[in-house]
Amino acid sequence: MERPRSVHHHIIPYFCLVSSSMLFWCTFFLVLLFTTTTHALVKLPENTTVPAVIVFGDSIVDAGNNDDMITEARCDYAPYGIDFDGGVATGRFSNGKVPGDIVAEELGIKPSIPAYRDPNLKPEDLLTGVTFASGGAGYVPLTTKLAGGIPLPQQLKYFEQYIAKLKAMVGEERTQFIIKNSLFVVICGSNDIANDFFALPPVQLHYTVASFTALMADNARSFAQTLYGYGARRILVFGAPPIGCVPSQRTVAGGPTRDCVARFNDASKLFNSKLSANIDALSTTLQDPTIIYIDIYSPLLDLILSPQQYGFKVGDKGCCGTGLIEVTALCNNYTAAVCPIRSDYVFWDSFHPTEKAYRIIVAKLFDKYFDRFF
Ligand SMILES: *[C@@H]1O[C@H](CO)[C@@H](O)[C@H](O)[C@H]1NC(C)=O
Ligand SMILES: *[C@@H]1O[C@H](CO)[C@@H](O)[C@H](O)[C@H]1NC(C)=O
Repeated sequence: MERPRSVHHHIIPYFCLVSSSMLFWCTFFLVLLFTTTTHALVKLPENTTVPAVIVFGDSIVDAGNNDDMITEARCDYAPYGIDFDGGVATGRFSNGKVPGDIVAEELGIKPSIPAYRDPNLKPEDLLTGVTFASGGAGYVPLTTKLAGGIPLPQQLKYFEQYIAKLKAMVGEERTQFIIKNSLFVVICGSNDIANDFFALPPVQLHYTVASFTALMADNARSFAQTLYGYGARRILVFGAPPIGCVPSQRTVAGGPTRDCVARFNDASKLFNSKLSANIDALSTTLQDPTIIYIDIYSPLLDLILSPQQYGFKVGDKGCCGTGLIEVTALCNNYTAAVCPIRSDYVFWDSFHPTEKAYRIIVAKLFDKYFDRFF
């Protein structure tokens, strides 16, 4: 199987590396390439097709599903989207693209993954994938309810609707082919830990960290199994990030020096170990090696702890406002100024990474897992 390669490896012409006398032509050629190549950064194995990227989960991969809802988990206003397609606040919780978009772009499918509930969605958009994800969602029903997001079971109902629409458009057989070969991305869990378990003392009376993370991981396994039941075969289930190191959590629980909050990170790690075991077990039971747990914890922690190594200057504050606490409603053009250089920051707001950080993480994940996807 072919390893993924970044565009820089495979399109830089060989003569650029061996001959400086070719500098003019080399420059010309490179400019031509970079201005004409659509992003297809990875090479799929021979005879492998990925028709669509289909996404579920929370604000990490929402693209505007909450835009018509009464919820705090909304960001369809400036400065969100300041770097998206000329500055459109679509409802993506970042300055630009989010991971689902970047994955689709790298696979050469399309530049971004629209929200399923986007009123401007065109029927043909369905063929190459949509996101059902909703800001505020969690694996535990109470998490989503508190935030006013779209619960995972409802995201699955929308997915059923989506399948019916596909069938009406392209027929039963082609629909099955699309579902079977598409990449399913599931990213959820941060809100359960940060906004449910640790934010609500009564929840801590009913659950221990161990029982709460077990509930999360069991619900995640059921979710993946349900997707399998619909015919999905390439299912990527992401773990939780180092939630104790995101700027807002440092501010509220990291003490005067805003340290990473160890007990939050420990909860993420505990969830991840249970999730990883559950997903591996599911993959074994169903004899489907392309149901895969994806570790996001280590690559993001690396960016946060060594921002300079990745070309960032700040890893512990968001770009929006003071960077200490602003997220969703508090990150707005009236009361929060945008930092001067967005690319200096790992985090866009106090909870969500910048597009630049997402790109680095997706590239790392492709390097690590790509061979296992197909
Ligand atoms: C790809 O498909 C072609 C045509 O069906 C076939 O000849 C070829 O052997 C396939 N290659 C691989 C690696 O399966
Ligand atoms: C919001 O602020 C940003 C940065 O200052 C600016 O570029 C953008 O035009 C503003 N958008 C709106 C809708 O006011």
